[in-house]
Amino acid sequence: MDHFLYQNGALHAEKVPIAEIAAAVRTPFYVYSTATLTRHYQLFAEALSGLDHLICYAMKSNSNQAVIQHMASLGAGMDVVSGGEYLRAKAAGVPGQRIVFSGVGKTADEMRLALEGGIRQFNVESEPEMQVLSQVADNMGVTAPITVRVNPDVDAKTHEKIATGRKEDKFGIPIARAREVYAHAAALPGLKIIGIDVHIGSQLTDLAPFETAYNKVAELTHQLRADGHEITRLDLGGGLGIPYEHSNSAPPLPLEYGEVVKRTVGDLGCEIEIEPGRLISGNAGLLVASTIYVKEGEGRCFLILDAAMNDLIRPAMYGAHHDIVPVIEAAPGAEQQPFDIVGPVCESGDTFAKQRHLTPVEPGDLIAFRSAGAYGAVMSSEYNSRPLIPEVLVQGDQFAVIRARPTFDDIINRDTIPEWL
Ligand code: LLP
Repeated sequence: MDHFLYQNGALHAEKVPIAEIAAAVRTPFYVYSTATLTRHYQLFAEALSGLDHLICYAMKSNSNQAVIQHMASLGAGMDVVSGGEYLRAKAAGVPGQRIVFSGVGKTADEMRLALEGGIRQFNVESEPEMQVLSQVADNMGVTAPITVRVNPDVDAKTHEKIATGRKEDKFGIPIARAREVYAHAAALPGLKIIGIDVHIGSQLTDLAPFETAYNKVAELTHQLRADGHEITRLDLGGGLGIPYEHSNSAPPLPLEYGEVVKRTVGDLGCEIEIEPGRLISGNAGLLVASTIYVKEGEGRCFLILDAAMNDLIRPAMYGAHHDIVPVIEAAPGAEQQPFDIVGPVCESGDTFAKQRHLTPVEPGDLIAFRSAGAYGAVMSSEYNSRPLIPEVLVQGDQFAVIRARPTFDDIINRDTIPEWL
C-alpha cells in the first residue's frame, strides 16, 4: 500500500494535492511519501521480529539525503556500493557501524575511505579484491570485518539485466569454492571473517529462489564453522519485488519473506542483515509529468510528455511497466482509448508505454507514473541537456523540495573550455 490516493477526484501525496506541487515546482518532478517509506521499513522490521537483525536500506534505489536520513531515523543501516554512497550515508548522519559496503569492484581508495570513517563490514566479491582489502587494512594498521559474497547459482527468475545469482553472472564467488576462499581469507592479514553474504537479484516475485539460496547459505554456515571460521552474521541481500501493475500483480509480502528467512537461517544463531531497496522506496514515489502534445499518428495516438527517458530510464532499459494515471481522476465509466506515451528525446526508445488505455488527455494535463521511487531519480541523466528534475518529499500536509532543478547556467558552467582551444 502507498499513500498516493485520489481524494475528491484529485491525486494526492499523503494530504498534499499533486497539482499543488506541480504549480509550485513545475513538471516534471519526483515526489516521495514519507509515510510510505516508513510503512515499508516497518513491514520488514515486523517480518524479521524475533531475529537479531539489521535492515540495511539499499541506497542505490534512492539516495537523496532526505530519504536516507529518514530511513536512518527509523533505525535502518545502509547498504552502499560506492565511495559516493558511503559519503552520502555519513553526511546523513549514519554511523559507520551501520554501513555495509557491497559492490563488485571496490577500489583501494574506497576501502581506505570506509576504514577511516568506520564500517560495519565489507562484502567481498572476489579473491583479488580480498587481497587488496587485506593490504589496505594492514597498511593502515586496522582490521577490516568481512563477509564473502557467494554466488549460489540460483536463477532468481527475474529480468535478465537484474539477475545476479547465476554462475554466469559477475557477482560473488562460486559457492562451490567458498571453503577454499574462506581459508585464503583467514590466512590474510588485516581481515576478520564475520559472516557470509548473498544477493541473487532484484524484483523477485517468487520466494522459491530465496529459499534455495538461503538453504545453501545455511549449509555453508555449518561447513565453514566446521572448518573453524566464526560465522556470526549473514547478509541475505535485497531483491523482494513490488507490484508494478496494481491491477494484476501481487508479489509475496515481506512477512512471507521473513518466514523464509526464519525457516532457512533463523536457527543458526547469526545476526541477520537484509538489503532491501526497491520494496522500501519503489512505491513511495511518483514521477509527475505534463502532457505537451496529443498527436494523432498513423493508426495511433501519441501522448508527448515533458518527462523523458533521461528522467526515468526503466521502460527503455528493461522494458519495465509503470502504471500511468491521470492526476485528475477519470469519471467512473469514462471511455478509454489507447495511447503511446512518449517523451521528447530523439530516440524511439524514449517510449514509456505503448497502447496504454487512458481516458482522453488534453495538452497541459498532469500524468503520474507510479512505482517510480526506486531506480528513478538515481538513474536519471541530463541527456539532451535536459536538467535533472526536482525531487519533492511529502509528510502529511507539508512538502519540500529535497533536490532542486539545476539552472541551464549550472549545467553549461560545469563544462570548461581549455585555454588552448
Ligand atoms: N544488495 C545488492 C548487493 C544489490 O546489488 C541490490 C540491487 C540490492 C541489495 C537492492 O535490491 P532491491 O531490494 O532494490 O531489489 N536498476 C534496476 C535494479 C538494479 C538492482 C541492483 N542491485 C531496476 O531499475 O530495476
